[in-house]
Amino acid sequence: MNPLKLAVIVGSNRRDSLNRKLAEALVRLGGNRVAAHFVRIDDLAMYSIDIDSDQDRPEAVRRFNREVSEADAVLVVTPEFNRSIPAVLKNAIDWGSRAAPRGGVWRGKVAAITGTSPGAIGTAVGQQHLRQILGVLGSLVMGGEAYISFKPGLIDEDGTITDESTRDFLQAYMDDFLAVAEKLRAPAPAARAA
Ligand SMILES: Cc1cc2nc3c(=O)[nH]c(=O)nc-3n(C[C@H](O)[C@H](O)[C@H](O)COP(=O)(O)O)c2cc1C
Repeated sequence: MNPLKLAVIVGSNRRDSLNRKLAEALVRLGGNRVAAHFVRIDDLAMYSIDIDSDQDRPEAVRRFNREVSEADAVLVVTPEFNRSIPAVLKNAIDWGSRAAPRGGVWRGKVAAITGTSPGAIGTAVGQQHLRQILGVLGSLVMGGEAYISFKPGLIDEDGTITDESTRDFLQAYMDDFLAVAEKLRAPAPAARAA
């Protein structure tokens, strides 16, 4: 079977983002079942209806919408900022929500959300906000919870999760997500008869 086209969105625009490291480690756990593509959000202009028209919509926004639309599923790995999601992620979600009527690129999209922070509850509150936003937009957000409290050395240079119980937990999380996303993905167009 063709690998699942997975759009990975990291909710941080920080150069040494912990969440980017986690996202890379999760993609590794997906192995050859996924063809992952990291979708940029740090180059999107701040949403304004003034530039949201067919003539004025920035090229980066068009690219973002296309990349999310073309994916079979989306994995969002995000920090928590002030007990919510970072503005850079909300901005990307807002742009995507305007791409087409009713939910835009998010509608019907299978999504998994997770994230990490050095704090004790590892993005739990931010993820609840994200789950609500994507749910309202019609995404099929995976059940289950994965809140990762980041400790130095949790992910090594190669992108391997060093703590065995965290690795096993996240492997199971990815396995569940990919199984659901594979089940729900649009069938490939049938090959034409010669
Ligand atoms: C503006 C701001 C607000 C933050 N709020 C929270 C918070 O509510 N909960 C939390 O666990 N960490 C919070 N943090 C700490 C982040 O979790 C930490 O900076 C983390 O490394 C950011 O993720 P990143 O490394 O992927 O960019 C906050 C950081 C900033 C800059």
